[in-house]
Amino acid sequence: ALHIALPQAPRAGQLLTLLIDYEAGEGPGVCWLSPEQTAGKQKPYMYTQGQAVLNRSFFPCFDTPSVKFTYSATVKVPEGFTAVMSATSWEKQKDNTFVFKMSQPIPSYLIALVVGDIVSADVGPRSRVWAEPCLIEAAKKEYDGVIEEFLVVGEKLFGPYVWGRYDILFMPPSFPFGGMENPCLTFVTPCLLAGDRSLVDVIIHEISHSWFGNLVTNATWGEFWLNEGFTMYAQRRISTEVYGLPYTCLEAATGRALLRQHMDATGEDHPLNKLRVVIEPGVNPDDTYNETPYEKGYCFVSYLAHLVGNQSKFDAFLQAYVNRFKFQSITADDTLGFFLEYFPELKEKGVDSIPGFEFDRWLNTPGWPPYLPDLSLGQQLMRPAEELAELWAADSLNMEAIEAVDIMGWRTYQLVYFLDQVLQKSPLPEGNVKRLSKMYPKISKAQNAELRLRWCQIVLKNNLEAEYNKVKDFLHSQGKQKYTLPLYRAMWGGSEATRALAMETFSATAPQLHVNVQNYVKKILGLAAAE
Ligand code: BES
Ligand code: ZN
Repeated sequence: ALHIALPQAPRAGQLLTLLIDYEAGEGPGVCWLSPEQTAGKQKPYMYTQGQAVLNRSFFPCFDTPSVKFTYSATVKVPEGFTAVMSATSWEKQKDNTFVFKMSQPIPSYLIALVVGDIVSADVGPRSRVWAEPCLIEAAKKEYDGVIEEFLVVGEKLFGPYVWGRYDILFMPPSFPFGGMENPCLTFVTPCLLAGDRSLVDVIIHEISHSWFGNLVTNATWGEFWLNEGFTMYAQRRISTEVYGLPYTCLEAATGRALLRQHMDATGEDHPLNKLRVVIEPGVNPDDTYNETPYEKGYCFVSYLAHLVGNQSKFDAFLQAYVNRFKFQSITADDTLGFFLEYFPELKEKGVDSIPGFEFDRWLNTPGWPPYLPDLSLGQQLMRPAEELAELWAADSLNMEAIEAVDIMGWRTYQLVYFLDQVLQKSPLPEGNVKRLSKMYPKISKAQNAELRLRWCQIVLKNNLEAEYNKVKDFLHSQGKQKYTLPLYRAMWGGSEATRALAMETFSATAPQLHVNVQNYVKKILGLAAAE
């Protein structure tokens, strides 16, 4: 911590100006990439990633989500580089100097800066995409004309979009997240450039943070579900309005499958499997990251909606909630207190203490959600995938039945759901996965990152040595944490050959990975993590 002694004790309410002269060096909040680590491989690149508590290595701050403030910054960069920040205004002055101002109060973790060889293209009336020149065409094509609709639906549901612009910056391949909701300027992995908009749910998610997380913020990282659970709910509300319920239920079912996998791996009773987590002093909140705040949080918000029993009434509540707590940092007690205040008839009925569904249990007891929203409208999309997975898991394959199913018209998330089912049933009987691979090049040779992840998991679980190179290639091509860690876990939990593959891949790719991801992989591989 930086301790500052004042010459004399200030009076209450007295305005103080403090000038701190400092230099930011190596991360973890500030990432310095060599040209080889960029998509274009020509020029170096730097970016910052603040969430959860990394921005203290970027600038002196009260590095807690409970404190909000405005900021301005003047950034001078070398010729041939551009700087962008999570700010409401952006101005280029002479000498390659950029001036930024964020006029709304935000917590420290939402301040973000990128300097690189980046260019932009408009994709909507208040949106543009930013990317390295070699990616800008693909970036524009992916999202041209679609962002505005999400913003408009978000505003209709949750109230005014207060941040002015909503721009998207495509990061270098080693960016550890799918997306990061830096206000005015979401950062995303280039893996979203699937060519068919199929991974747009990530964008809808980050847009949803414009209300849940960025306007109404969790006061502590122990209540991260207030950011992510409400955002998952908001994301699926927008998705329902734009794409309909069946598709949204299908997407939610893949989320539920991830929660199932996570709880199976950790045990349902793991202390991190509650919504309110105790983070002891000295523990890095990032080390508590898992699916629970997202998907169990989503279930709890869905449960609140279920108690209300009427979607438009609940939408109106969400809008009132945002309005009541905008620009503030709050706890779950504030949220639930406001819910009961807003619906006095529910408070009267004692909905906070229905046996088995007590609010206190939701918050403080680990385990599988006591209430699951009904996803059965997704069945029309899920059932064919379940049936096909069933066919492929049989001891002797019924090729006639398999060939009768045409997967060419399936949406990406239907294929993802199918692959999750296959993975769950793996290892399949000898030879089946090899045949599956041959039959569906659309899957086994996919460029789509969500499909590649699942295919690699299936390859590993079934010891399909002939395709181990795909695991290696995928891990060389990107460094997203949610893709990287499950694959290393699978390799390390597998055979001698997959362990060797893990070691070989890690030693080649480690320098490209974000330091946090590097350390998590080291832990998986039993290599001492540099603390
Ligand atoms: N804010 C998170 C990313 C994050 C979480 C960064 C914790 C650092 C610490 C972001 O909104 C997020 O949840 N991204 C997801 C997107 C998905 C749920 C659609 C991701 O990156 O996978
Ligand atoms: Zn999120």
